[in-house]
Amino acid sequence: MSRTLITSAIPYINGIKHLGNLIGSQLPADLYARYLRARGHEVLFLCATDEHGTPTELAAAEAGRDVADYCAEMHAEQARLSEGFRLSFDHFGRSSSPQNQELTQHFAGKLDENGLIHEVFEEQLYSVADNRFLPDRYVQGTCPNCGYEHARGDQCENCTKQLNPTELINPRSAISGSADLEVRKTKHLHLRQSAMREKLDAWIDEKSDWPTLTTSIAKKWLHDEGGIKDRGITRDLDWGVPVKKGGGEWPGMEDKVFYVWFDAPIEYISCAREWVDAGKGDDWERWWRTDKGADDVRYVQFMGKDNVPFHTISFPATIMGSGEPWKLVDYIKSFNYLNYDGGQFSTSRGRGIFMDQALGILPPDYWRWWLLSHVPETSDSAFTWENFQLSVNKDLADVLGNFASRVTKFCASKFGEAVPEGGAPGAVEEALISRLSEGMAEYERHMDDISIRKASSALRALWVAGNEYLQSAAPWAAFKEDPERAACITRLSLNLIRFYGVISAPFIPDASSAMLSSMRAEDAEWPSNVSESLNTLRPGHGFSVPDNLFRKITDEQREDWETRFGGER
Ligand code: 2FM
Ligand code: ZN
Repeated sequence: MSRTLITSAIPYINGIKHLGNLIGSQLPADLYARYLRARGHEVLFLCATDEHGTPTELAAAEAGRDVADYCAEMHAEQARLSEGFRLSFDHFGRSSSPQNQELTQHFAGKLDENGLIHEVFEEQLYSVADNRFLPDRYVQGTCPNCGYEHARGDQCENCTKQLNPTELINPRSAISGSADLEVRKTKHLHLRQSAMREKLDAWIDEKSDWPTLTTSIAKKWLHDEGGIKDRGITRDLDWGVPVKKGGGEWPGMEDKVFYVWFDAPIEYISCAREWVDAGKGDDWERWWRTDKGADDVRYVQFMGKDNVPFHTISFPATIMGSGEPWKLVDYIKSFNYLNYDGGQFSTSRGRGIFMDQALGILPPDYWRWWLLSHVPETSDSAFTWENFQLSVNKDLADVLGNFASRVTKFCASKFGEAVPEGGAPGAVEEALISRLSEGMAEYERHMDDISIRKASSALRALWVAGNEYLQSAAPWAAFKEDPERAACITRLSLNLIRFYGVISAPFIPDASSAMLSSMRAEDAEWPSNVSESLNTLRPGHGFSVPDNLFRKITDEQREDWETRFGGER
């Protein structure tokens, strides 16, 4: 049995995530984790909230909340919504945990010992009234490009131009509004990524099996525009991991914290320790330290394309630079963007469908199925209500739900609520079994490759094969002339419901459980042989007719939702 460590990019704490965030990392990671567990692999699946950084401080201030309280509350809310979508994390941690504070400071200390940290003096705006240096986003002013009066020091929201705070016209503090700002020198730490360029380059070159999307972004950062740059890893904020090395002071860095992108990926490791400290596991080092057994682990990361540079360059540089035997990622699965009805999902503008809203109107499987079968794998993809309605009504209601309902209702009315005995299977059944066996091999191949769209098509084709079989074998017609034949078809079809319950679980876990429990299936093992698997429920085995597995989306509902979710939140 092999071991797989799976991490999903950790979502920012500020605000509830939209469906574009969900399909960009957490949901595909969950699909893969569920699949591997079902196939008997040992899996550790970790995620957490990404809690530090300026946006968090600003969001808490806007809500008039203490930042630590705000984060605790939002973490609980995100955990609740993750459960709502059936995300099967072994632990959902927090980057603000004491474990992550300790490990982040440990890494910084090691990098410093190894000569990979530079202390750099930078010119930065200082607010006399606030008595502090202002991070870029804490400076507001008029955009030199378009004249917008509320541009931020890092970027103008109106014209999207990237800015330096010193370029703003009439700059003022976003905290107090004071215009009493001075340019002063302040010390920051830079991670010397440039010193590790060759190592990183050689490491990426070994990854010939990685998706092109991942390697091309990594290569671009390593080589474009004069090559990889050193990166500032400290900020002037209150909320974050205090700059220390291995717990000891770092002279001159007393009022600073580490940059959120320095401590966030370290949380992947700390989260495993949080998992143990929460009493859910007993050894985190066997997943993360190659000197403690993690050499046998395959580590797979899931993320949106905007996260790739941090995971192919900065985080590996931190790990390699520490000189310690930490596990490096083996495979990075990255995604393009999901757009929403002709535009973009946007957290800041409240545009699109957010996780709480989605669960408020439909159960998780409807969303899981649509999102996973339309995942932006090879290019950006778009959510439209029309396509959502079509896919739910066709794939889930007409094909899968209808199959389960027809078979169980027919059996209950003609043979009672137990698997009938019936005659021996014939050529039609043999043909079905060979079609299903080929289909299963294809489904498993795509799941093993994390080729999600192809896997969802292969799963759908397996559902269609059962439906077509039922339609052409027509037990309701056979029943009149040859009840033994009708019973044989029914027996096989009831077994197919169990089979679908097992193999569909990574995509639609709730409907799968409903299928398995209506078949009173005690054995939900992944089928290694289709023919044997379709013989699991023996004659006389009781079942019950499941409630409607999927309800169709009506045109009225679709129109209502289109209007309701058309504007801003
Ligand atoms: O893009 C995001 O949502 C980030 N919060 C992802 C961080 S992933 C990691 F490195 F921890
Ligand atoms: Zn502008």
